[in-house]
Amino acid sequence: MDFLEIAQKRRSLRSYDPTPVEPEKLNYVLECARLAPSWKNGQCWRFIVVKDQSLREALADTLTDDNPGRKVLVQAPLAIVLCGVPSESEVWENKDYMMLDAGLAMEHLILAATEQGLGTCWEGWFSEEKARKVLNVPDEVRVVAITPLGYANQVRNPRPRKSIEEIVFKGKWGEVE
Ligand SMILES: Cc1cc2nc3c(=O)[nH]c(=O)nc-3n(C[C@H](O)[C@H](O)[C@H](O)COP(=O)(O)O)c2cc1C
Repeated sequence: MDFLEIAQKRRSLRSYDPTPVEPEKLNYVLECARLAPSWKNGQCWRFIVVKDQSLREALADTLTDDNPGRKVLVQAPLAIVLCGVPSESEVWENKDYMMLDAGLAMEHLILAATEQGLGTCWEGWFSEEKARKVLNVPDEVRVVAITPLGYANQVRNPRPRKSIEEIVFKGKWGEVE
């Protein structure tokens, strides 16, 4: 698969098969995350791999009631929780690079998972406080996102995207030619 195919194939998957993820594949996606770029190479990200069923149920309970992710965190064989250590990154000109760094690493992981035939779904609508308690994450560390990781149990059509013309300017802001 070339990179465009991986980007095209990725979906936010909301139904999973219980088949376990092979340890080599789990290591592979974590290694791809490890290699992400970061502010001053601070590598502020941490990943918590959660396999235990009761912990995943507790994590699902941290999601908002209407979040489709509640189901998938229990259904998929494992969840990966993305944390960020603010002291290993910086807020610079009002830009929170900790969040950006962590997000970059997570996207590496998500795209690597797609390449390996695995599904993911970025979960952002959850109570950070509750998630922190479930996983014993220290107060000074942010819980940024959660994703299930596992084999898909559904085929999802791509969600719409803005056209290239809507998102790319040529020259200055607003210029298209
Ligand atoms: C920062 C962020 C937070 C998200 N939070 C959730 C979430 O809590 N629950 C959920 O079901 N999907 C969540 N999503 C998935 C988006 O809804 C999804 O990426 C978007 O609808 C596009 O669909 P696609 O990923 O299948 O292309 C989140 C995505 C991002 C990038």
